[in-house]
Amino acid sequence: MRVTTRLIVSIVLAAALVSAGWTFYQARGERAHLLEELNHRGALLAESLREAAEPLAKRADAKALTRIADKFGGRRRLRGISLHAPDGKTLVATAGLPESSPPPRADGAVDCGLIPGGSLHRCAAPLENTPGFLAVFQDATHVEAGVREVWRRGFFRLLTQVLLITAITLWIVRFDILAPIERTAEWMRLQRAGEGHGAAPPQGGLLGPLASEAAGLAKSLETARSAAEEEARLRHSGQSLWTPDRLKEHAKERLRGRPMIVVANREPYLHVRRDGTVKVLRPASGLVSGVEPILKACGGTWVAHGAGDADRETVDQFDRVRVPPEEPRYSLRRVWITKEQEEGYYYGFANEGLWPLCHIAHARPQFRAEDWKQYHAVNRLFADAVLSEIEGVDEPCVLIQDYHFALLPRMIKEARPDARVSLFWHIPWPNPEAFDICPWQREILDGMLGADVLGFHIQYHCNNFLETVDRTLQCRIDWEHFAVRRGEHSTSVKPYPISVALEEDAGPLPSKEELMASVGAKGTILALGVDRLDYTKGIVERFLAVERFIEANPAYLGRFVFVELGAPSRTNIPRYRDLVEEVKKEAERINARFASKEHKDWKPVVLAVAHHERTEVARWYRVADVCAVTSLHDGMNLVAKEYVAADREEPGALILSRFTGASRELRDALIVNPYDVERVADALREAVEMEPEERRRRWESMREGIREHNIYRWGARLVDDLARVRLDAKPV
Ligand code: G6P
Repeated sequence: MRVTTRLIVSIVLAAALVSAGWTFYQARGERAHLLEELNHRGALLAESLREAAEPLAKRADAKALTRIADKFGGRRRLRGISLHAPDGKTLVATAGLPESSPPPRADGAVDCGLIPGGSLHRCAAPLENTPGFLAVFQDATHVEAGVREVWRRGFFRLLTQVLLITAITLWIVRFDILAPIERTAEWMRLQRAGEGHGAAPPQGGLLGPLASEAAGLAKSLETARSAAEEEARLRHSGQSLWTPDRLKEHAKERLRGRPMIVVANREPYLHVRRDGTVKVLRPASGLVSGVEPILKACGGTWVAHGAGDADRETVDQFDRVRVPPEEPRYSLRRVWITKEQEEGYYYGFANEGLWPLCHIAHARPQFRAEDWKQYHAVNRLFADAVLSEIEGVDEPCVLIQDYHFALLPRMIKEARPDARVSLFWHIPWPNPEAFDICPWQREILDGMLGADVLGFHIQYHCNNFLETVDRTLQCRIDWEHFAVRRGEHSTSVKPYPISVALEEDAGPLPSKEELMASVGAKGTILALGVDRLDYTKGIVERFLAVERFIEANPAYLGRFVFVELGAPSRTNIPRYRDLVEEVKKEAERINARFASKEHKDWKPVVLAVAHHERTEVARWYRVADVCAVTSLHDGMNLVAKEYVAADREEPGALILSRFTGASRELRDALIVNPYDVERVADALREAVEMEPEERRRRWESMREGIREHNIYRWGARLVDDLARVRLDAKPV
């Protein structure tokens, strides 16, 4: 039965039930009322006739009785009278009455009631002087007729109600229920078919409150459809796009819901006190840019050194704070270390020892026993913090980052053999001869080999590492699978080239002129450098190339400007302090050389030494015509990838050192040897004068590479390999 019919039948049944009840009640009242009338009139008649009729009882004079009755015959409904002996036997009666009549009640009152059959009513009154009683008979047929009339009227009223109810219900169902449902169904059909083109859902009416929910659903559907289309498009061309959502789902499935623990010395958010208020700083670190999107996508905990001067004020009793501050997605667990420990572990062993050891940049590594002691102690501190974070978690996953924590994998594995541990080395790994000078090389390699998965950016660094291990430790190198086997435990050594996410829909393009004016740069062609002020970045070499370029191409005087956004870094170390001075001096020297009246206020090199927020750097990437990355040695270098990933209107041009990991992937950049000043100067000219088609072709090809090999893919591969680790093999 259709809903409408069911609705109408139910309403009609309910109305019929109420109507029948009401009519029954009315009929009963009508019956009682008519009987009451008969009783009343019958009693009056019996009393008034009694005196006149009594003498006739003895004489049995039926004629006289008929006369008396006729005298009252004009009265409506009187059918006759009779006189009876006390036992009810008829003494005398008018015509047409029953043969006998039962005696009335013995109390002497007039006794009235219907005679069985229902068409006659009798009132009996005892005679006063003679034994016996008088009976008055009235016509009672109108009582049943009256009751029938009430039922008849009730029926017609019900019929009218049924017709009205049916008509009104049909009207409401048709126009207020079916019509909005049909409109909404049609709207949904269009959305499903992808023909909705953002049309708003039908508003108002019964389904009004669902409109905003439906609009939300349609939006999600559209987003999912475009993602699916994009994926299908990429799959079609043999690729597959990794997105935060895909990584999230993937990690959830592979880690089976376990939280991810990331350990890195540098925290992604520092709380610092500036002019009396607490501010949040994002450090200049490729590692932070690369690793954070994974935690944002998967959730978990980042364990890091609490280095901000207001860090302690912002954590809870477990030294944790939820970040990012504007939209918390994961926990940051801060580890506190003393000034002395920081001196030895961070500035000393990590940055004066391992950093120059791993980078071929002609800075002599410093190895001090005291630094090594602190390095060991701080690794132990971090191990304790990680162990407390993974307490109670079955088979936890720990992703350790960089050269600050070479000893950590073994420390964790020893305490928690059920943990899956990876170490990612973000900087290069030197050849075995270079590494050989480290007095604690065995301890470092042994610590690293506690990991199940060991990652570098490129295969070349993996090979260097395996050769170093081969020469230094007793173990078996599996060159076929790129793994180190010691006892039952195996460490897989693989390249995982870190990346960034392609920036899309970043909003209106910033004004190039305004940005340039903000650092005092003048000109029409903007070349950009973005670095931590580190001697491995080849900043002085870059400036020399700018000088040579202007010298060789005087047409660019007053037109070309190189802006270097340099973030001070590790300034407790003399080599880094000296570098700031050296870079500043070099910029001043070059600017002074080209200063002229003709190009007043123009400088070829503008050096902005400051901590530049990521959002600010992102604006520069979007408008710079050229970006130059001339590192003397670099694990990957994410500045190069960030520039290519920026949401720009016009294609840019990238100059990239061949000693960066990024140069293995961004092959359409202008690849240079940063030590070759002439070649870098040529590359600057090439970048500025490149034909638009050539520029676009190179640009599109580099962007396509990043689109496919993005940071989410990097995270997914690490998670995958970690999830695949077999835990039955114990580390030696
Ligand atoms: C490199 C290292 C990172 C480090 C970053 C910034 O990218 O690989 O581990 O965080 O430099 O250096 P900083 O010493 O300031 O953390």
